[in-house]
Amino acid sequence: MRILRFLRSSVSVGKEIDYYSKFSPSPLSMKQFLDFGSENACEKTSFTFLKQELPVRLANIMKEINLLPDHLLRTPSVQMVESWYVQSFQDILEFKDKNADDEKVTHDFAEAVIKIRNRHNDVIPTMAQGLVEYKENYGTDPVVSQNVQYFLDRFYMSRISIRMLLNQHTLLFGGNVKLNPAHPKQIGSIDPNCCVSEVIRDAYQNARNLCDRYYMNSPELILEEFNAKELGKPITVVYVPSHLYHMVFELFKNAMRATMELHSDAMEYPSIRTQVALGSEDLTVKVSDCGGGVPLRKIDRLFTYTYSTAPTPSVDGSRATPLAGYGHGLPIARLYARYFQGDLKLYSLEGYGTDAVTYIRALSTESIERLPVYNKSAWKHYKTIHEADDWCVPSKEPKDMTTFRSF
Ligand SMILES: Nc1ncnc2c1ncn2[C@@H]1O[C@H](COP(=O)(O)OP(=O)(O)O)[C@@H](O)[C@H]1O
Ligand SMILES: [Mg+2]
Repeated sequence: MRILRFLRSSVSVGKEIDYYSKFSPSPLSMKQFLDFGSENACEKTSFTFLKQELPVRLANIMKEINLLPDHLLRTPSVQMVESWYVQSFQDILEFKDKNADDEKVTHDFAEAVIKIRNRHNDVIPTMAQGLVEYKENYGTDPVVSQNVQYFLDRFYMSRISIRMLLNQHTLLFGGNVKLNPAHPKQIGSIDPNCCVSEVIRDAYQNARNLCDRYYMNSPELILEEFNAKELGKPITVVYVPSHLYHMVFELFKNAMRATMELHSDAMEYPSIRTQVALGSEDLTVKVSDCGGGVPLRKIDRLFTYTYSTAPTPSVDGSRATPLAGYGHGLPIARLYARYFQGDLKLYSLEGYGTDAVTYIRALSTESIERLPVYNKSAWKHYKTIHEADDWCVPSKEPKDMTTFRSF
């Protein structure tokens, strides 16, 4: 009887997922986020938007979870993640026909939003655990790795965007006051005057504390600003400070580790030089280290979710935050940059050091969410049989050119 009820309800959830996955997510611009939270912030508008948009974003990515290789999909960890998505999808659908004018409804919705956000706190480590389980049992193969990389980039991007929506709603309407008590000038998690070097110094300091703990020392920071728009003025941008913090914190940890490992015998370490520039289109942050660099051949690999040259940190949580080791630092930092149409790139001079460059849109009108959509092209990515490369593979043995010689 219970099984039957479960089956019936999972069939109907499946139908709802199909229905909502046919809508494309609606990307919001930084301006729209600000308008939602400005003077005339309206909880009803936010509620009406979210009760449609959240199921759409959830359903779009749930369709892709289903396209993962069977053995990966069936690992207990991935099953768990999937069940969180189904539960949250159902939680939101409860509000489908509810009236925005009813205060109890909007209050319950705000609570549901908080519950959903907390339910999904551990998605990244749980998903990573699923990959480990899969690898242990089935090994790796290049096609699966490529699909998993494609999936995780989209899955985590979707997650960043959903959390952004949940956070904005909670911060703006969750309490009695509309101000974020920790950051009264912010609109939810967005700072209309985010002071870039302040965030950079903060991230550097925290990375440095970790570095000191591991290596008993740490490189200094040299910070330079070039404001081409208003000469001499500090650079500010309309942005989510926690996203900027996340990106530069990861870059500092990497730069520090490379520097300390290369110069382990020295008593002095080359500083980490950080340049911030503001032009008319781009706000650029470059973190440069003299940590020996990475060969070009390996640069792409650094952005894969499982690549790390650091020992895997213990998962029991008994140790302090590690400086490195999960291999998620760079790929996720790049997603944060891309989320508002920026990017993150690594340029290295092997034998010398690395420049990690983060690009952010200088104009808030250009900062628009970049969201994955489930459609035929996405589907094809998972289903296409990867054919032979269309570039020649260099043979190991050089051809005997004497046969071509004309006598
Ligand atoms: N600035 C850098 N200099 C040299 N190697 C780097 C640098 N940044 C990243 N790497 C290499 O890239 C790998 C992946 O980095 P990341 O994604 O941050 O994961 P983790 O730091 O957990 O290993 C690192 O393990 C390291 O080998
Ligand atoms: Mg790292």
